[in-house]
Amino acid sequence: MSRSIGLDATLTDYVRKANPAESAALKRCREETEAREDSNMQVSPEQAAFMKMVARMVDAKTAVEVGVFTGYSALAVAETMKACHGHKAKLFACDVSHDLICIAENYWKQGGVADIIRPVIGDARESLIGLVNDGLAETVDMMFVDADKTGYPDYYSAGLTLLRPGGVMLFDNVLWNGSVADPSVSDPDTDALRVIAEKVNNDDRVENAFTAIGDGLLIAMKR
Ligand SMILES: C[S@@+](CC[C@H](N)C(=O)[O-])C[C@H]1O[C@@H](n2cnc3c(N)ncnc32)[C@H](O)[C@@H]1O
Repeated sequence: MSRSIGLDATLTDYVRKANPAESAALKRCREETEAREDSNMQVSPEQAAFMKMVARMVDAKTAVEVGVFTGYSALAVAETMKACHGHKAKLFACDVSHDLICIAENYWKQGGVADIIRPVIGDARESLIGLVNDGLAETVDMMFVDADKTGYPDYYSAGLTLLRPGGVMLFDNVLWNGSVADPSVSDPDTDALRVIAEKVNNDDRVENAFTAIGDGLLIAMKR
């Protein structure tokens, strides 16, 4: 699990206690994922709480996630979607790893949301085009992008096609632990994150906010 950038342990604890408690399935997913070496890929509980609120604010009935890992963020959003729309809600969960999707599905079953989550396994560049071809253009209420950073520009482009007007895209890790603001750092991931931040900020098709939630969460709402 990650922690919000700039918050020490005491403030992190305060923020977590000030948020609604996680469901049992979310807690189990987070705690069991902690044992993995790559556990910092998981969003923090406070980011998940924020994303649940976004799902409520846009009344998310159809959503897409790009980058599932062990299923925590998808579970959080799906819980809210199911509470609002029951079995009519649908979350398309895209990840390149079949093994990770299997792990995630176990938590989704425990959380009672497996029936509204449709796993899409493969490179998300192709998966998102597949969703467009399946007729989802202009229907998606919320999309969370948390996969390979060099793919963000492609995911943004596909997301603009998929989102309905008023729908939102959230891009995770746009601060990249601060390296985006360090001019001495240049590598494909950091550069791609700078590109997406600038692209979104200069795009008349969206309203946008660059926030310091988690490791930086960029929000773009389609006009
Ligand atoms: C940071 S983790 C996602 C964390 C997850 N959102 C959570 O909070 O638990 C990134 C995920 O993106 C997936 N991924 C990386 N490149 C991908 C690609 N090109 N297409 C689809 N998924 C990809 C990885 O397999 C990994 O599970």
